Amino acid sequence: MKLFDVYPLYDVTPVKAKDVFVYDENGTEYLDLYGGHAVISIGHGHPHYIKKLKDQLDNIGFYSNAIQNPLQQELADAIGHQSCCHDYQLFLCSSGAEAIENALKLASFHTQKKRIIAFRNAFHGRTSAAVAATDNPNINAPLNKQQKVTFLEFNDSEGLENELQKGDVCAVIFEAIQGVGGLDQPSEAFVYDMDRLCKKYNSCLIADEVQSGFGRTGTFFAYQKYAIQPHIVTMAKGMGNGFPIGGILVHPSIEAKYGMLGTTFGGNHLACAASVAVLYVLEKERLQEKSKELEAYFMNQAKDILEVKQIKGRGLMLGLEFNFEVGALRKTLIYDKKIFTGGSSNKNLLRILPPLTVQKKHIDYFFKSLKEALTEYKN
Ligand SMILES: Cc1ncc(COP(=O)(O)O)c(C=O)c1O
Repeated sequence: MKLFDVYPLYDVTPVKAKDVFVYDENGTEYLDLYGGHAVISIGHGHPHYIKKLKDQLDNIGFYSNAIQNPLQQELADAIGHQSCCHDYQLFLCSSGAEAIENALKLASFHTQKKRIIAFRNAFHGRTSAAVAATDNPNINAPLNKQQKVTFLEFNDSEGLENELQKGDVCAVIFEAIQGVGGLDQPSEAFVYDMDRLCKKYNSCLIADEVQSGFGRTGTFFAYQKYAIQPHIVTMAKGMGNGFPIGGILVHPSIEAKYGMLGTTFGGNHLACAASVAVLYVLEKERLQEKSKELEAYFMNQAKDILEVKQIKGRGLMLGLEFNFEVGALRKTLIYDKKIFTGGSSNKNLLRILPPLTVQKKHIDYFFKSLKEALTEYKN
């Protein structure tokens, strides 16, 4: 049987990984500054994480949501402790898109409205409402295009109020730092406007933290740079360090009803054990704080590279914008310099999403290699 051919692939076959490195079948070492798309938070194969998953597997790996599973409460307490979102309620699922789908559905249940406001260049996933709220017509099938979604520019407060006052908007969904879109951020004033206007017109504000959450940007969630309380916060990628888990945090003003949301796999024992282990390591190794320190270190080195037109992002969700398309540069970095980096819908942007255990010496190695690659490029 052939695989359904939807991914353009690099010709690299990782068979092993440890901390910030992956190894192919010949033992070649690659520095992972992509983290499998911001998924690897505490480093590949962290010993605490492996032990907790193995121990859990020896006891019980899975049961459905029809029984008591104290690991879910343990995870809720750990997320509450580290995010300080103590009053929020946790619903668990298995991926980013599923988190978004549940967030949008919940906003619609809560407000009894059905239109979504999303932003230009947003990426929220591939499922029904999530992809409709994603600003890319090429990945929306006719089925998805039935959803009612209005796209606005970031910082257009007047446009936002005009739309909200029509009275049919269930949710305004935003990324505090756009991931796939290329690391743009709304202005502080606009974040406060979104918060205020959603309350005024009875719409839910959804912070999509699928990529930026779990300590990656120096705060637990990227939106926490601001003093706002979104109605719903979505999480996934870094939450399980590679184990598929997602979730939403739900503001106490939104009430749960039996049957309102549900899933077979979400919140299973292994997934909870993985995420509890991630949170333990994040706190113990001060990875959130370190991501802030490394941001400064990275930015400082990036400033010296003439070809870099703009340095974007926060913490360890960073991007270097060039005045040329970076596709070929990424290939040189991966094949010649043995470094994984990320791209985005902004073709000129090189994305850096390493495990949060990355160290200064790895950043030094990246910049040395980048300078060499840029010189080779010119010649
Ligand atoms: C901000 C954001 N939201 C949602 C998603 C969808 O997550 P998943 O691919 O786990 O469905 C992504 C994935 O890249 C993302 O970056």
